[in-house]
Amino acid sequence: MAVWSQSVARADDGALAVGGCDARALAAEHGTPLYVVDEADFRARARGFREHFAAAFARHGAQCDVFYASKALLSSQIASWVLDEGLGVDVASGGELALALRGGVPGGRITLHGNNKSDAELIRALEVGVGRIVVDSMTEIEVLGALAAAAGVVAPVLVRVTTGVHAGGHEHIATSHEDQKFGLSLATGAALDALRAVHVSPRLELRGIHTHIGSQILSVDAFKDSAERMLRLRADFAVETGYEMPEVDLGGGYAIAYTPESESMDVERASRAIADVVAQGVEAAGAGWPHISIEPGRAIAGPAGMTLYTVGVTKDVALDGGGSRQYVAVDGGMSDNMRTITYGAEYTAALANRHSGAPPVLSRVVGKHCESGDIVVRDVDLPSDIARGDLLAVPATGAYGRVMASNYNSVLRPAVVAVRDGRSRVLIRRDTMADLLDWDVPL
Ligand code: LLP
Repeated sequence: MAVWSQSVARADDGALAVGGCDARALAAEHGTPLYVVDEADFRARARGFREHFAAAFARHGAQCDVFYASKALLSSQIASWVLDEGLGVDVASGGELALALRGGVPGGRITLHGNNKSDAELIRALEVGVGRIVVDSMTEIEVLGALAAAAGVVAPVLVRVTTGVHAGGHEHIATSHEDQKFGLSLATGAALDALRAVHVSPRLELRGIHTHIGSQILSVDAFKDSAERMLRLRADFAVETGYEMPEVDLGGGYAIAYTPESESMDVERASRAIADVVAQGVEAAGAGWPHISIEPGRAIAGPAGMTLYTVGVTKDVALDGGGSRQYVAVDGGMSDNMRTITYGAEYTAALANRHSGAPPVLSRVVGKHCESGDIVVRDVDLPSDIARGDLLAVPATGAYGRVMASNYNSVLRPAVVAVRDGRSRVLIRRDTMADLLDWDVPL
């Protein structure tokens, strides 16, 4: 599988280029570590989701809307790309909401998520006319009803449903099995109770139901199962109340390839399979079509991004069973990529500044932090002559990289730059030493 974004190429001298920009020039201009986003690739993936899903549902005479899950990677410029490409934006905090608005996304094209939204977040969402607020608990239904009454508005609501479908690449990112914090359970009847409560509230408009089964999902069947359950719930509710909820949101979770050996979800195939199963559900219920929406994040931002690092120390370390491993320490680590240590995620890496004819050897890319788990790429073959000053590129880091970055060891979080047609533009600037000292309050 291709793990590099579409515009990545090798120049004659072996240096990597992305978006028409030479990796060496990017490193020289912006410093490393550096997150690089291939804008055309990001836009093409966003557009691809919109077009494939629209086409798949159009075959049934229905509609499907795509909301970009901005938790994957967000800046105001990115929000504006997403809007340009015809998608809405899904936010999960007041901060994400503020950035989406700054990017020019109208409130009506925003969905607000979160299992524990603050009053301030809900009030802001009502003020800016957020199109859909996804309620996650009975408490929130009460609170939102009261806040909407105080603001003199009616809040558009989706109820987050836990369908019981267990899917996702890692326990920490599976979200629709029963024993976890998100949503209202289908199995126990909590979801139905929540729907009833929203339906009778004069200050809440029940737009529909939402589910998100998890992340890094490879099986279309998991999406089909959850879609089936959601449509059955909608049908049951219509039988009970006579109200056919107009919207069903099936969440995100489409898997991407992180290494050449791993697979990604085929978006076109998934769109058709999901549209077909929704069509069957609609037919079985004898109901009208709901407006369907989905919320991919990783599959839009992930493959469009890479991280550039500068190599510092290299070391050969003897392995227990014989042989050795080349340790390649870079100028970042777990502070800019939490995914390896958190989820055991696998990545690959490549020399980015030159060609090497040296034999590839088993290597591990590690960071500069004070713990042995500070690994960026666990196992990868890299040339044996890799040395201090070389540049290393790690692909597929566009999603859940910068947004999960930390200042551990008081390192400065890297910049995010967009590249396109031979030009680079800063999306999020690098932290500076002045920032760090500014956050500190001296005596
Ligand atoms: N919608 C909702 C309600 C979500 O909670 C999420 C992700 C998405 C959509 C987008 O899922 P995606 O298409 O990106 O898989 N930090 C983890 C991922 C956590 C995802 C949380 N929710 C990671 O690095 O793998």
